[in-house]
Amino acid sequence: MHHDGKNDDEKLNDQGTGFSRRDFLKVGGISLSVPLVMGARTVNVAGQDVKIYGPGKVHISLDINAKKYAAEVEPRVTLLDTLRNELELTGAKRVCDRASCGACTVIVDGKAVYSCTVLAIEAQNKKITTVEGLMDGEKLHPLQQAFIDNDGQQCGFCTPGFVVACKAFLDKHPHPTRAELGTGLGGNLCRCGTYMGIRAAVMQVSKGGQNG
Ligand code: FES
Ligand code: FES
Repeated sequence: MHHDGKNDDEKLNDQGTGFSRRDFLKVGGISLSVPLVMGARTVNVAGQDVKIYGPGKVHISLDINAKKYAAEVEPRVTLLDTLRNELELTGAKRVCDRASCGACTVIVDGKAVYSCTVLAIEAQNKKITTVEGLMDGEKLHPLQQAFIDNDGQQCGFCTPGFVVACKAFLDKHPHPTRAELGTGLGGNLCRCGTYMGIRAAVMQVSKGGQNG
């Protein structure tokens, strides 16, 4: 507040902006409380039509575990946060959120990916498998059972990501060598050090020849 009784916002307004910082905050408050769902806009860049999304929420449709899901998210939102916060699929875990631990691993079009590094909007029209999609009704996937049989988890926080990574790995290498296994699972970390149990679980499934 100044000696003329006006604060900084009011003085700025007097200088001709016609829009004070307080007004801006008020408008911001309103826009935050009203979800704005937009479609794509098309702009012409160097003679080519380019689709622009956001910054508000956009409708997306995802194919997860052979089921269609719809959501409204801002284009900047990751697949991981969409799974966990919008679709109640909380198997994939948010640990590092920086592409280094693998706790968020899901399978996209047959490839294990860190869902914390994929935008949900980019994952449309792709086949996504999460750990929730591995069970057959009430029956555990053979890999899940093998994790139990071989003590492949302690706190369990890394486990869903590891199970999914193992599934993707075994789909490509049904009968891996120890060396292939070490390399193939190198993208996932376990702070409890259950690596021996996890490797034994993969080998058990590999020998049984069933990866669901
Ligand atoms: S949470 Fe995605 S790699 Fe760690
Ligand atoms: S079982 Fe605890 S982090 Fe892997």
